[in-house]
This record gives sequence, C-alpha cells and structure tokens, in this order.
Amino acid sequence: MKRPDNIAIYIGIAEALFQSEKLPEGGRALAARVFERLRTPSDDGVRHRTRYPACEWLDAALAPFIADDTGFGAAARAIKALEADLGWSRRSSGVNGSDGYTDAHVHGMICGPGGAESRYDVQLGFSLMVPHTRYPDHSHPPEEAYVLFTPGEFRQNGGEWIDPGMGGGIHNVRNNPHAMRSGSAPFLAIWCLLTGGLDVAK
Ligand SMILES: [Fe+2]
Repeated sequence: MKRPDNIAIYIGIAEALFQSEKLPEGGRALAARVFERLRTPSDDGVRHRTRYPACEWLDAALAPFIADDTGFGAAARAIKALEADLGWSRRSSGVNGSDGYTDAHVHGMICGPGGAESRYDVQLGFSLMVPHTRYPDHSHPPEEAYVLFTPGEFRQNGGEWIDPGMGGGIHNVRNNPHAMRSGSAPFLAIWCLLTGGLDVAK
C-alpha cells in the first residue's frame, strides 16, 4: 500500500521530535523501535471518527506555535492536515481525574487502532486537554513515550508533578502508573507506544 502524504509527513516530523535530547534516553530508544515498525505502512481501514467536545480545543492548543518555523510548528500544521482522518477516543476510567475530565480531554490517533492508519503493532497519536484538567491515574502494559507541546505537567508513580518543558517528555516503562494535567492553557502532548497482540493502551 502507498501511505497518504499527510500521514507520511507527520511521521517524519514526529520521528525527529521523539529523538530530542530533552527526552529520557529510554523514551528515545522506544520511539526508535516504534518508527522502525512504521517504515512499513499497514492499515485495516477501521476509522474512529466520532468527535468529542474537547476536539474543539485543537486549534487553541496549536495556535501558539502553528506558524513557527520549528518542528513544533511543522507538527501542528501536519496535525491540522490530518484532522479529518484522525481517530478519536477518550478514557472514562481511573482515579483522581478532575471533575468532568471525560469531556475535557480527547486522544487523537494517527497510526494505531481506528486512526488515520489503523494498525495494532504501534500507536502514534496525541492527547489534548482543556485548561485546568487532570487526567486520571492510569497504567497500561505497553511502554510509552510522550513529547509535550504546551505548558503542562506529568506525574509518574505518584511522585512529584514535573513540567518537562516544550519538547521535553517522559518515558513510561510497562505498567508504570502515570497522569498528566493542564494549567491555564490547553494541553497537547504527542505519544507513541509499542503494542503487542493483546495490549491495550491510553
Ligand atoms: Fe498513558
């Protein structure tokens, strides 16, 4: 199969962002394995295109850098070019989520189940949260790396909340409990996971 240009362009931009020195080494190593698998396009045609309320915050989250001549600006423009093809989902389980968090967040899937390129061996997507939202504590078997595009904080294993800064990120080993939260600005972080046959994520 030939991969559509809008997906190929995003993958190329994201691959570079996940190799930033600002990421933990384990996150960069995981991402390298994800992007290795992504060299082979694979799509079963499943699409989860139902939109949720937080989707309306995408433009506001991307606005501060979408015109920038940086990897973040290029990624933002690529995400906008993919918007109609994204798969959308959200979490409704887990503890310590802020009131109304279900409507206050959404996940956009680019490569992964129901995404623009629907497949089951990797996941490449992003999380979007409206201001003052705390995502529930959760964990999942697949290893995961995040790159933060906006102000925001992460927490791992019940530790301190940390803001890795724009372009920084975190690495979750398998089943590592983690959470994220926004402040006064919308939150957007891209992520990638290496998934096996029965693993589910996000
Ligand atoms: Fe996660």
